[in-house]
This record gives sequence, C-alpha cells and structure tokens, in this order.
Amino acid sequence: MRVLMLAAPGAGKGTQGGLIAQHFGVPHIATGDLLRDHVLRETELGRQVRRFLDSGELVPDGIVLDMVREALQAAKQDSGGYVLDGLPRTMEQARVVYQMAVELDMTADVALYLQVGHDELIRRLLTRAKQQGRSDDTEDVIRRRLTLYREVTAPILGWYESRGILVSVAAERPVEEVTLEVMTALEVLQAVVGHVPDSDRRSIDLTGLDVAFGAASQQEPPRGT
Ligand code: AP5
Ligand code: MG
Repeated sequence: MRVLMLAAPGAGKGTQGGLIAQHFGVPHIATGDLLRDHVLRETELGRQVRRFLDSGELVPDGIVLDMVREALQAAKQDSGGYVLDGLPRTMEQARVVYQMAVELDMTADVALYLQVGHDELIRRLLTRAKQQGRSDDTEDVIRRRLTLYREVTAPILGWYESRGILVSVAAERPVEEVTLEVMTALEVLQAVVGHVPDSDRRSIDLTGLDVAFGAASQQEPPRGT
C-alpha cells in the first residue's frame, strides 16, 4: 500500500498516517518529523531548517526532496510500500515526487485527504501546544501554516483528483471513527488497485458518510428538543 497524506496542519496526518503504516506494515515517512529530529539533534541540516519550522514557512524543496528520495529508496528495499506524510506541499514537490516514484516504480495508490474545518484545526493545534509545546504551535505561526496550506498546498488536491487516486474522508470526528473509515476504504482499494488500469481509476469522496450515518443529527439536534 502506497499512500500520500494530504491535509491541513492539525487534520490528523500524523495520527492516521502512523496507524495506516502500522496496519499495512510500511514505513511512515513524515517530513515534519524527520526535520524536527534534525533540529533536536542539532545537525547541520537541523541548523539550516530551524528558522523555517519555527516560523511555519516551507523548508526549501531541495532539502525535503533529498530526504524523501532517500526514504523512498529505503522503502523500495523494504516492503515497497509507504505512507508519505507532509509532502508534497507544492505543485513542484508533487511533480518531482511523482517523477521519483515513477523511476522507482512506486507511484502512490491513494492520496488521502482528511477534511477538517478551520476552527477545529486551530482547536487541535492549540490543545497540542499545551501538551507538547511544539515550536510552531503558537497562534501566529498556526495562522501562517494554515494560510500556506490553503494557498499553496490545497490546490494540489485537484491534480490527484484528476489522476483518480484522491480519497476524501470526513475527519472532524473521533480518531477511532476516522481510522475505521480510512482502513475500510484502503482495504477495499488494496484488493482492486492492481487490477484496474491507471486510466480507469476514479477518486472517491466519502465526506458525506458521517452525515449519512447520523453525524449531522448529533451536531444539530432537531429544533424544539
Ligand atoms: P508537519 O510536521 O508536516 O506539520 P503540519 O503539516 O503543520 O501538520 P501537523 O503535524 O501539525 O498536523 P497533522 O496533520 O500531522 O495532525 P496530527 O495527527 O499531529 O510540518 C511542520 C513543518 O515542517 C512545516 O511547517 C514546514 O516548515 C516543514 N515541512 C514539512 N514538510 C515539508 C515539505 N514537504 N516542504 C517544505 N517544508 C516542509 O494531529 C494534530 C493534533 O490533533 C494532535 O494533538 C492529535 O492528537 C489531535 N488529533 C488528531 N486527530 C484527531 C481527531 N480525530 N480528533 C481530535 N483530535 C485529533
Ligand atoms: Mg504531523
């Protein structure tokens, strides 16, 4: 299984990405985690990227793409699968990582989009700030990260949709509910993906499922009750 996690800061890429990787026995390659690890270990690379992370700006493409190339090559030697979390963030990164994956014969099966509203994203990140004190979980930096996501990263979703590999899930629900829906969708896709030519793939939008199964009635009790 080869999955790209595409979603806003705080949407649950790390949380769900880790669970997916564990479930399918593939590496969870999270660019933010790899970069933070360099900062923590005070490597030369860590010193170069620290100011980008602290301010919520994007680290230069060359740095993250080299890192991902290495991780994909290692994944190829391993199970051949991956969960890539935090990349691509720009159309240029999407183009380069696709080219890399084609060369390694490891193109993504699924681009997973976790849909979460703006207020909930901020709530989650501010909650995490109190628990973990991540340097970019301050109000100003959160705002900057969300703006960059909206302006630079979100437009890439259309490209995955047109390739027929975008799976969209309503993720403003408890972690376990999101996980169950994601795993079900991925299990079904895993069974068919090798048998369907790329040109016949169609994107899947599950974001209405939570409403179909009662989420709206929980959020908005009937009037008069
Ligand atoms: P990165 O580490 O990727 O951060 P991010 O995209 O801002 O996303 P987060 O890690 O904050 O959120 P998440 O979606 O993983 O959610 P999580 O599961 O943690 O990138 C950090 C920085 O690195 C960037 O700003 C940039 O500087 C640099 N960088 C990284 N990749 C780059 C690239 N490709 N190019 C250039 N620069 C790059 O969940 C968030 C919180 O919510 C947690 O506390 C979690 O417990 C909680 N939570 C999760 N799910 C739920 C749920 N369903 N209900 C309630 N709470 C939940
Ligand atoms: Mg993360």
